[in-house]
Amino acid sequence: MRATLKCSALGVSALFAVLQVVPAPVQPLTRPATPRVITWQHVGGYEVGAVLYRACKDCHSSDTRVPWYGHVAPISWMLAKHVREGRSKLDFSDWDSRRHSANEMEEICDAVSNGSMPLRGYTMIHRDAKLSKHDVDSICDWANAPSSEKYVSQTLDTAGRRK
Ligand code: HEC
Repeated sequence: MRATLKCSALGVSALFAVLQVVPAPVQPLTRPATPRVITWQHVGGYEVGAVLYRACKDCHSSDTRVPWYGHVAPISWMLAKHVREGRSKLDFSDWDSRRHSANEMEEICDAVSNGSMPLRGYTMIHRDAKLSKHDVDSICDWANAPSSEKYVSQTLDTAGRRK
């Protein structure tokens, strides 16, 4: 019995070791050469900016924090795939420099209201990324009126960028 356990433990370790060296089925994540600094309160003011930072930044910005196990295959493959897909759909890193359609804002509110975002597998590990009802309401209020005073930060006001 103990021998069997030892054998399977060895087998699993060997499998993991092999996974680390086989070519990844997805391109590994690389840090952009010049990572953009995102001022999160520019995206939705202080309150909403903080929620988006807490719950969305890892997959929807270039501000991705990869935990140690995120470098271990096959988790690293899944992570790279999610981040790449997430960024391609919605990237908060270039928020300031592009226009936002009503449709895009509506999609954000929909995704958090119906619980599809943040991805469930993510909130299982990152408990603090779970959204409360209040978080969802704040995101949707902002999505419905993104340029209202409440959601435009002081810096943006003075720079007059969104006015
Ligand atoms: C673990 C990674 C991850 C996190 C965290 C995450 N997303 Fe996503 N998001 C994705 C992926 C992957 C897609 C594209 C695939 C899909 O549509 O399911 C996506 C798609 C979207 C889309 C496009 C519409 C849609 O539903 O497909 C929106 C809007 C969105 N996310 C908003 C958010 C918001 C807002 C947050 C934070 C509250 C968030 N996401 C957190 C990975 C993530």
